[in-house]
Amino acid sequence: METNIPPHAHDHPLKGINLISFSTSIKLLFSGYLTTVAVGYLMALTQILFTHGMADGQFGLSFDDIVYSYYGDRSSSTLEGKLNGSMKANAPDEDRFRIIQWVRDGAKEQEYTVYIKPIIDDHCVMCHNADAGGLPDFSTYENLKKYTDTNTGATFEALVRVSHIHIFGISFIFMFVGLIFSFSTGVNKQYKYAAIVMPYIFLLVDIFSWWLTKLSPHFAIFVILAGAGMGLSFAYMWCVSMYQMWILGPVKHQEDSRNALLRD
Ligand code: HEC
Repeated sequence: METNIPPHAHDHPLKGINLISFSTSIKLLFSGYLTTVAVGYLMALTQILFTHGMADGQFGLSFDDIVYSYYGDRSSSTLEGKLNGSMKANAPDEDRFRIIQWVRDGAKEQEYTVYIKPIIDDHCVMCHNADAGGLPDFSTYENLKKYTDTNTGATFEALVRVSHIHIFGISFIFMFVGLIFSFSTGVNKQYKYAAIVMPYIFLLVDIFSWWLTKLSPHFAIFVILAGAGMGLSFAYMWCVSMYQMWILGPVKHQEDSRNALLRD
């Protein structure tokens, strides 16, 4: 006699602890969570596209974007990069070249006062002033000077901050997505184990690669691969869970007496 036949087996001959057999309330709870985190995931991807995606001055995420974001564009300064990128339209070419030349010549204060400050006051300070929350204030030499150093990408502080937020936040999401997916039945064991474990490995590889990319641009490829791997695991677990809850049971009338908590 099988030991995993639930009580009331005679009323519900083929019901077990699995995604197909769960009550509608549990399915709604699981599906609500899965749908919400999927929307969150899409938002996160959109945000990546707009921040990192623009790092090389062109829309769309590329290898160079990852390198510029973490390693920086070491051939130039942030100020020069912006003057040739998203700030290009804000000053006439001759003024932009004047500022860029000043940066390359060492951004000296004396020249700033005579040549650069009037340009900045005319073309930049209307947006970059002390009251412009979020934007750097370029009304003083000290503030502008900070943007004339070599662009070395994300700062140490920014990496620490984003790393710990990502590790705690994303592992939490995969805890619940993985838990729901664990209740699936009939999935090839190898795939099931891999889908549950991979996101954690990819997450650590992803974060670790940010730091490595800060040291050397070659590691940017691992940031991209790990991000893609995480997305794939997520999509796989999401689709299998939803399919078993809403298609196999209610639509295809499949019954399942397996206990997913005890068996694979
Ligand atoms: C119309 C408003 C506006 C004007 C004028 C403007 N900026 Fe900006 N600037 C922005 C905004 C918005 C951002 C943030 C988005 C971005 O980085 O593209 C920004 C970002 C920057 C950054 C990057 C700041 C950072 O934190 O990394 C630099 C450097 C910069 N601007 C330089 C300039 C210079 C130099 C001028 C004058 C030639 C100028 N900006 C004129 C609106 C403006």
